[in-house]
Amino acid sequence: MDRMRIGTAAEEAAAQARAMERLRIRFSGQDPSYHITTLGCQMNAHDSEKLAGILQTIGFHEEAEEQADLVVYNTCCVRENAELKVYGRLGYLKGYKRRNPDKRIVLCGCMMQEDVVIDKIRTSYPWVDLVFGTHNLYRFAELLEEMYNEKGQLIDIWQEAGEIVEDLPTLRKNSFKASVNIMFGCNNFCTYCIVPYVRGRERSRKPDDILAEIRELAASGVREIELLGQNVNSYGKGLDEPVSFAWLLYRVSEIPGIDRIRFMTSHPKDLSDELISAMRDCPKVCPHFHLPLQSGSSRLLGRMNRHYDKEQYLALVDKLRAAVPEIALTTDIIVGFPGETEEDFNETLDVVRRVRFDNAFTFIYSRRVGTPAASYPDQIPEAEAKAHFDRLLEVLAEGMNERNSRLIGRTLMVLAESTNSHDDRMLTGRSEGNYLVHFEGTPDQIGQIVPVEIDCQKTYYLIGHPVSEGKNSLHG
Ligand code: SAH
Ligand code: SF4
Ligand code: F3S
Repeated sequence: MDRMRIGTAAEEAAAQARAMERLRIRFSGQDPSYHITTLGCQMNAHDSEKLAGILQTIGFHEEAEEQADLVVYNTCCVRENAELKVYGRLGYLKGYKRRNPDKRIVLCGCMMQEDVVIDKIRTSYPWVDLVFGTHNLYRFAELLEEMYNEKGQLIDIWQEAGEIVEDLPTLRKNSFKASVNIMFGCNNFCTYCIVPYVRGRERSRKPDDILAEIRELAASGVREIELLGQNVNSYGKGLDEPVSFAWLLYRVSEIPGIDRIRFMTSHPKDLSDELISAMRDCPKVCPHFHLPLQSGSSRLLGRMNRHYDKEQYLALVDKLRAAVPEIALTTDIIVGFPGETEEDFNETLDVVRRVRFDNAFTFIYSRRVGTPAASYPDQIPEAEAKAHFDRLLEVLAEGMNERNSRLIGRTLMVLAESTNSHDDRMLTGRSEGNYLVHFEGTPDQIGQIVPVEIDCQKTYYLIGHPVSEGKNSLHG
């Protein structure tokens, strides 16, 4: 079903504002509640902030899932287990619905862009009230209105994205740290990956819209900005007046009030010297670079359609470390890609040993229907992939322990983000290099940047104590 609109972005935004107002009047005095569960990456997390912003504008308040009048699942399909989680939850949701038929269930996000999923929901889960995808998320208010006005299941999925609609209300999770989309979609078609099929072609937001949003965030007290895109290094290429990602970083750096700038994710094939210089020259840009490797085998990188080889990847690491010596490097690695031999896997271990990453997201290859790699004949047995996965974690940990050890006794500037979930006398935050740091502190420090001297390291996190500024301080 494709009911795509042809209004301009401004007309679409105005239509949403009107729908929110009508819903606000309809629900006034009823104190309706919602609960959103988000699976997947920061893109989805940020989309959920927009859904929450729309709901709060209408007058909904947040509530536990069991009690909420409206339950939303914002789904992910990058790997099979993300989808299994949703199917697992649907059983519970059916129970809620049986006990309270007025409760409304909404499914949205990447998984809904798959035809097989929609067929299954239509036939096996007819009690789900509203289903929409990634391209029409901005229409959430109008879709909600339609759902409340009509009986039966409402499914609205667009095959393609329309214009980027700006000016939706957004409920930010934190008051001191915010994500900002700079682009949507992906053109890279890595052969294992479903994202380009469910998020559509690459589209960049206009620099003026991005900068205006960041200025507003800075004015409201936000200190750290994370710029989001599937491949931020190709930001700006398709704009009427093309600009580069490095250019954008310089502009964001000029905004008063913003102390830290981060970004996710960079594709190695588009990592320019101009960007490396911007990393070196903009003090607000955090000394952290997430550079997905995927595999250390040039042969597999070719089969993955990544457009770089092992040597080129290692050369980029050298350049980054030459420009910003203390830079923290993190990565994504897939094991068990079709055709992966012992030799290929050893190439990955070799890169891991040589680079010594500061952290990594590691994945066992998951076969995604519709992607080229899903039909490669040489799929790897699960047990073999799992053995490689465990071995990879060991070798990654050796590098992380070594990298972390150099920080002991030094002072890192840590943005305190939350009270530690295991010990309420401790705070948890992130250093400039994105290290996870636990330290003694009080809730009033949340949102502040605290100098913390590191006492010990536990591979995946550091433990320290607050100190008065300056001693051995390090941009790490
Ligand atoms: N655009 C980002 C990645 C988005 S998906 C980039 O290119 O870096 C996040 C990570 O999920 C990918 O980097 C990859 O390591 C992993 N991934 C994607 N598809 C996968 C699959 N089919 N199986 C296992 N891991 C996968
Ligand atoms: Fe997926 Fe590759 Fe695009 Fe990243 S760059 S989202 S891994 S296709
Ligand atoms: Fe998942 Fe969609 Fe992100 S598939 S990883 S939520 S872009």
